[in-house]
Amino acid sequence: MTDLPRRVEEAADLVTVALDELLPRADGPESRLTEAMRYAALGPGKRLRTYFALETGRMLGVDETYVLRAACALECIQAYSLVHDDLPCMDDDDMRRGHPTVHVAYDEMTAVLAGDALQAAAFEILAHPDTHPDGAVRAELVARLAGAAGARGMVGGQMIDMLGVREDLGGVARMQRLKTGALIACAFELPLVMAHAQEAERHALLAFAHDLGLAYQIVDDLLDAEGDAAAMGKAAGKDAAAGKTTFVTLLGVEAARERLGLLKTQTKSHLDPFGPRAEFLRDSVDFVLERRH
Ligand code: IPE
Ligand code: IPE
Ligand code: MG
Ligand code: MG
Ligand code: MG
Repeated sequence: MTDLPRRVEEAADLVTVALDELLPRADGPESRLTEAMRYAALGPGKRLRTYFALETGRMLGVDETYVLRAACALECIQAYSLVHDDLPCMDDDDMRRGHPTVHVAYDEMTAVLAGDALQAAAFEILAHPDTHPDGAVRAELVARLAGAAGARGMVGGQMIDMLGVREDLGGVARMQRLKTGALIACAFELPLVMAHAQEAERHALLAFAHDLGLAYQIVDDLLDAEGDAAAMGKAAGKDAAAGKTTFVTLLGVEAARERLGLLKTQTKSHLDPFGPRAEFLRDSVDFVLERRH
């Protein structure tokens, strides 16, 4: 997987340049809002959702300019979710992606509004004819992203997380599927919709996305427990301190690591039907599991 870090970096550069073009600029008093949106969305995120979307699009033969716009929409939702996740009324974090969080760099109301406007920007980008010539496809893309972002997806998961109910393992897995899994799965869904993929391909890729999303959050929880705040660009040790129920607080570090090891093989096996075409997606499993930030 020697090529993988370079491919991820290339995907990140592509989406950052495209987002820079697409995000609004303003001259009047609302420039504070558009600057905060840019601060949140153009910062050094890993852009792994973009990477998954671009590789899936390549594998399925979709025009890259379309997939890149879909990736911009995904990254707008991702950035908005993090701006709100960091607010004092949520996780109350001061650092994100190595920089002060939006409510620290600006103020709380600007952070709330920047998140709101990033969410709207995501749908504006998807609905634009440049994203796909077929209006029915665009409507489907909008519906998929809305589903992944809303009450039956990310926001629903955030609610369960914030309520702090003491979940069992099944409950934590369900929370994860909504909070993190839905948006990660959407990085596969959007190119699948654009490709008019067959049911069997769809099924296999979404099973892959499901296990990958689960692994992603277990790694996030492990990094919170053992990671290095400087390397991560965000605070560590927050989950236990906040009394959150995560895979790691429930299972302990050792058992969580063991579970990840098992998941690794299972996740990759979903790509078997694609053979060598899925090489870069297959390698991304190791990349996700070995990430330190
Ligand atoms: C952080 O997401 C929150 C989770 C869903 C685990 P990422 O770790 O993908 O954050 P960025 O976008 O790279 O900053
Ligand atoms: C947040 O999960 C997931 C989102 C939907 C934003 P976390 O609260 O664990 O994410 P980090 O650790 O702050 O990045
Ligand atoms: Mg949180
Ligand atoms: Mg958080
Ligand atoms: Mg976390």
